[in-house]
Amino acid sequence: MKALQISRFGGPEVFEMVETPAPTPGPGEVLVCVRAAGINFAETLMRENRYAVTPELPAILGTEVAGTIEAIGDGVAGIEIGARVAAPLFAAGVFFGGYAEYVVIDAGLVAPLPDALSFEDATALMVQGLTALYLTKQAPPEGKTVLINAAAGGVGSLLVQLAKSAGAKTVIAAASTTQKLDFVRLLGADIGVDYTKPDWVERACEESDVGGPDIIYESVGGAVAKACFDALAPLGELVIYGALNIQDFHLGVKELGGLIFKNQSVTGFALVPLLTPKSLKTDLAELFDLAVCGQLKATIGGTYPLECADEAHRVLEGRHTTGKVILVP
Ligand SMILES: NC(=O)c1ccc[n+]([C@@H]2O[C@H](COP(=O)([O-])OP(=O)(O)OC[C@H]3O[C@@H](n4cnc5c(N)ncnc54)[C@H](OP(=O)(O)O)[C@@H]3O)[C@@H](O)[C@H]2O)c1
Repeated sequence: MKALQISRFGGPEVFEMVETPAPTPGPGEVLVCVRAAGINFAETLMRENRYAVTPELPAILGTEVAGTIEAIGDGVAGIEIGARVAAPLFAAGVFFGGYAEYVVIDAGLVAPLPDALSFEDATALMVQGLTALYLTKQAPPEGKTVLINAAAGGVGSLLVQLAKSAGAKTVIAAASTTQKLDFVRLLGADIGVDYTKPDWVERACEESDVGGPDIIYESVGGAVAKACFDALAPLGELVIYGALNIQDFHLGVKELGGLIFKNQSVTGFALVPLLTPKSLKTDLAELFDLAVCGQLKATIGGTYPLECADEAHRVLEGRHTTGKVILVP
């Protein structure tokens, strides 16, 4: 099979197309023919060895695919050859193998795809859809003013919609360009704020009647993350979930004093430890149903042939994408 491998860390140029034997499904596993492989921002960091997980080289990146069942291992029941499925490798803590023509996965983790759901949209709803959904469960937006950073991105574009449908009073979407802000308004954001502008915190606070957002979903890090401490309302919660938080920021006496005297909290969020095989299937089914009935729009911001993963990574890390970026073998 064709697969995209890295044998050294570095820029997008480190990807190399290789021919490698397709994996064989062992007992309890299935082989999936990949029709769409998702790209996540974390993989741009893995490629440079800047992520929490260091890939063992050579490595094939990719943690989520959608496709059809190609072969079935011993002891697997209830899955047919040719069935359309989502294969969330990350649910087993596997962050590799997706940028390829075939992947093997534990049969217990695959989720059926409704006929009306495209492979591309299904891929958008896996890591990013589940992350957005679980963020709204960990920090429920009902009745609250919420600020969503990187709101036009893969997670952000879904979180805007899920926060709104979960009853957020006001959704403030922050992003870096006018086009991205227009896009998030179309998705249902009440207000768009350009967080590259110096007055963005004041703008975000103006939109709230309690002196700032009650909840901030933060994935950007650096100066933006630090400014969130100024924006947050009394009793507010700053939920930090982004790998981009490797853009450092320091909390000094000023920020900590603010937290104490305004009774605020900062919480961390990571998707994978929250998943169980049962919740995974239920929650994916919920997201797929929402997409099929038009209540959740998965935006595909770019579809690239497998051999053009370098270009896909360039546009994603260059902040040129909205929604989900997909590879098609
Ligand atoms: N904790 C978890 O379990 C979990 C799960 C999934 C994803 N995540 C994290 O959630 C974040 C979003 O992931 P995603 O895959 O959906 O990516 P994405 O949002 O589609 O892309 C990243 C976005 O971040 C913004 N950004 C701000 N500063 C940036 C910088 N210096 N370089 C590049 N981009 C910058 C850009 O939007 P603007 O141009 O509008 O600023 C960019 O489009 C990532 O940090 C990812 O690691 C965490």
